[in-house]
Amino acid sequence: MAHFYLTTPIYYVNAEPHLGHAYTTVVGDAIVRTRRLLGDDVFFLTGTDEHGQKVERAAKAKDMTPQAFTDAISGSFKQLFEHLSISNDDFIRTTEPRHINAAQAIWRRVLERGFLYKAQYEGWYCTVDEAFVPETQLVNGRCPDCGGAVDRVSEESYFFKLSEFEKPLLDLYERDPEFITPDIRRNEVLSFVRAGLKDLSVSRTSFKWGVPVPDDPKHVMYVWFDALTNYITAAGFPDDTAKFDRFWPADVHLMGKEIVRFHAVYWPAFLMAAGLPLPRRIVGHGWWLMNDAKMSKSLGNVVRPQSYTKVFGVDAFRYFCLREMTLGHDASFTDPAFLTRYNADLANDLGNLVSRATTMVHRYCGGVVPEASTAAEDPALTRQLRELIPSVQSRMGESYQFSLALRDIWEAISSTNRYIASKEPWALARDESKRNELNGVLYQSADALRIVAGLIEPVMPNTSPRIRKMLGIGPQNWHQLQNERLRPGTRLGETEPLFPRIEKTVEELRQMSDQENRTAPGTATAPEAATGAGTDPASDKISIDAFMNVELRTAKVLAAEAVPKSKKLIKLQVDLGTEQRTILAGIAEAYQPETLVGRTIVIVANLKPAKLMGIESNGMVLAASPEGGKPVLVSVDAEPGWRVR
Ligand code: MSP
Repeated sequence: MAHFYLTTPIYYVNAEPHLGHAYTTVVGDAIVRTRRLLGDDVFFLTGTDEHGQKVERAAKAKDMTPQAFTDAISGSFKQLFEHLSISNDDFIRTTEPRHINAAQAIWRRVLERGFLYKAQYEGWYCTVDEAFVPETQLVNGRCPDCGGAVDRVSEESYFFKLSEFEKPLLDLYERDPEFITPDIRRNEVLSFVRAGLKDLSVSRTSFKWGVPVPDDPKHVMYVWFDALTNYITAAGFPDDTAKFDRFWPADVHLMGKEIVRFHAVYWPAFLMAAGLPLPRRIVGHGWWLMNDAKMSKSLGNVVRPQSYTKVFGVDAFRYFCLREMTLGHDASFTDPAFLTRYNADLANDLGNLVSRATTMVHRYCGGVVPEASTAAEDPALTRQLRELIPSVQSRMGESYQFSLALRDIWEAISSTNRYIASKEPWALARDESKRNELNGVLYQSADALRIVAGLIEPVMPNTSPRIRKMLGIGPQNWHQLQNERLRPGTRLGETEPLFPRIEKTVEELRQMSDQENRTAPGTATAPEAATGAGTDPASDKISIDAFMNVELRTAKVLAAEAVPKSKKLIKLQVDLGTEQRTILAGIAEAYQPETLVGRTIVIVANLKPAKLMGIESNGMVLAASPEGGKPVLVSVDAEPGWRVR
């Protein structure tokens, strides 16, 4: 039996889980469910990354000990994954003794083999990314990746001899072009390594929340050294050699594109230094975007999966994520797209097939699957379904093209719906001489539904068994899916609605989901939720998080004109560095439009758009005004697009 070990990243516990975290885990879950259906011996790992300065600071901000804080947030991740029907075999927390033991064991091996030395580290550190940033890469003195502030670090540190692995890594990428996929990620890593690798600082002395370096407890390990090791901890390293031999090396490390570098450069180098086998494949997917920016806690633009599962159900959420995003590319998460996919694909296409294929057997055959008959067979449909099975198996189980696999399944659903409509079984039923043909139509539609139910199982694990129950059959692995057919004489279960149409406007949904954000299941006991929307109920003070939810940015005025028929409004065209926007400002009584051009002002960048005088305004300018007096714009001497905090 083939073994298959897949990992997701372990998620930082500095804040509550959001759609991005859910997405990776759902993709991983769909892959491993496919592999299980193909008969593999699967090990699927997810978990939480609990050490490091970022988590330590987040705990401090909540006035909690790091352990209590990480317990609560790690619990939220666990709960969310259960809620999303994630079938992980293990959930690792880096604060567990088994992991501390493994991290210290790999450290010792790397040290003994001569790849660690002590020296002084002088440089910059980005706590948001938990990454050292070379001085030459700073952008306006800030982190080039997240735009956040960087700290100056000057301390004794252990260094890992990463520079010695430049050639072995390039050889690895050359030898195995599939090691990093998709290609765009591979090319990024290649140019990063070709530009030259410097030795890497792998311990810190200025804080304590980490795995102690063995025999030198003044140092804690750099959080990425500790975190990456989780993949071997859970595979049994160093003590459970039977498990380790069974599952290591991992088949797939799955992650978002921003952390491919850590997995494709640092991790194989650490493993080579420790003399351990390398993982087989690093797969980097794209990001969910909100208004063209990465959805992330630090930008305050996150979607909580529970807002959608509450309204549409878990399987609809999983379906949307996998149908809408092409692995490797970015995608926008929008309510209209969600609503359309739900109503068109699930309520309409799949819903129609399920209801027609089963109710007809109830109505015309007393609920018992009739004999198959070639009388009404549509050879094109038969061929489409037969070819669909291996194609979906390889797209879901090997190349991870879920969007294409689902598109193909939905094409087969449409073909079957068209087949039913064209054969008009309701007309055949009126003519006893057409009984054979009617049976043929009913049989072929019901068997098509059996295949559809099987193929959607990795993506929609709750819907498949419900459809099978309606068809009166039990679970089927993919060998059975391909080689067995519906047995005539099978008694169907009751037909039930699966995805009722949701006749709501996007605005109504937004209100429902906004509401849900505040009371999302799985977050109620977490520290963040305990303080509501960031307000401390004991005083009228707000938390730093509540403030940071407001995204203030500098913007340069490119053009300004009075809004016709309005005494107060000026229409501004502003530049935010990465985009231009139109904003309406109520400052016409205080400023002549032309005097505004060229100024750099401060705006609220994440305000919901609003229409004023028929013009859509995307943001709000900041101005100070005395009681009853004219407003004075907040102007700053800065480049456009900087965050104000
Ligand atoms: N703790 C590290 C990973 C260590 S692995 C040894 C970390 N954690 S994280 O909490 O920041 O999670 C990052 C992962 O969450 C991304 O790699 C990706 O899998 C997922 N996502 C977070 N935001 C995302 C989007 N906006 N879109 C899609 N996935 C994203 O990095």
